[in-house]
Amino acid sequence: MSEIRHFIDLDRLNTATLRQMLDIGQAFKSGENCGRPLAGKTLVMIFEKPSTRTRVSFQVGMQQLGGQTVVLGDRDSQLGRGETIADTARVLSRYADAIMIRTDDAGKLLEMESHSSVPVINGLTDDSHPCQIMADVMTFEEHRGAIAGRVVAWCGAGNNVTTSWIHAAVRFGFILRLACPQPLLPPAGLLEWARAEGGEVSLAEDAETAVAGADLVVTDAWVSMGEKDLASRHGLLEPYRVNETLMAKAKPDALFMHCLPAHRGEEVTDAVVDGPRSVVWDEAENRLHAQKGILVWCLG
Ligand code: CP
Ligand code: NVA
Repeated sequence: MSEIRHFIDLDRLNTATLRQMLDIGQAFKSGENCGRPLAGKTLVMIFEKPSTRTRVSFQVGMQQLGGQTVVLGDRDSQLGRGETIADTARVLSRYADAIMIRTDDAGKLLEMESHSSVPVINGLTDDSHPCQIMADVMTFEEHRGAIAGRVVAWCGAGNNVTTSWIHAAVRFGFILRLACPQPLLPPAGLLEWARAEGGEVSLAEDAETAVAGADLVVTDAWVSMGEKDLASRHGLLEPYRVNETLMAKAKPDALFMHCLPAHRGEEVTDAVVDGPRSVVWDEAENRLHAQKGILVWCLG
């Protein structure tokens, strides 16, 4: 039996495979490839957390590729009444051709993967958000060409999105500078992994140092879904807000990205998110195109 093509995290896939997915996504976007390769295929999506972009972009993407989706929310399935992930995976594998799951604990994603006989896609966990960063890499390259060797600055809390940026820095060969308050740094083991893989991922003293001369400035919510919204966290993160003064330290043509939803006035000001260097709407659109590449690769 051939190996099942799961999409769990960027560190588990090699550069050529990730490039293949982006190329497929780009071919669909440009209209070069207008076929319906997933005709007759079904993607089941499980959402244990809210979503706008992930939910709609996967649903529309599957439709455009000729397939269909079944969406299960938090209270729609027996998972909410204690049926195990393992049993759910076994059952869904009998109906569906792929399963996408958004959940809190990455362990649940891995459990789904180990008991599923169809591809499993990570639609975000507390630990990572790989679909998002595939769209982000696609967006950068559409605007500025190859991302390899370019400088990306992350300002804010170290979170699930940061982890996928770290994985991407290694796999796509760009320089990643992270400016995060000490208590909200990404896991030390992840930075060690990046170094061991030859990646250029470093911690910056402050946001200004991270952003100096950067090609891309990225941030995300100060409080992720499921985290406690503590006033002390806001106090810690104030110096990392992306505003026009901070953007002025980046390259004159630097781009701004945010996975969205944005908390305007917290991690980013209106002037930046709505400003000329922001590509957040292209980034959101590219979730659709990048995920088509992921789906076609997974479902082969
Ligand atoms: N960026 C992102 O994943 O958005 P949603 O939470 O709306 O899916
Ligand atoms: N870090 C954010 C990303 C949302 C798409 C969260 O997990 O809430």
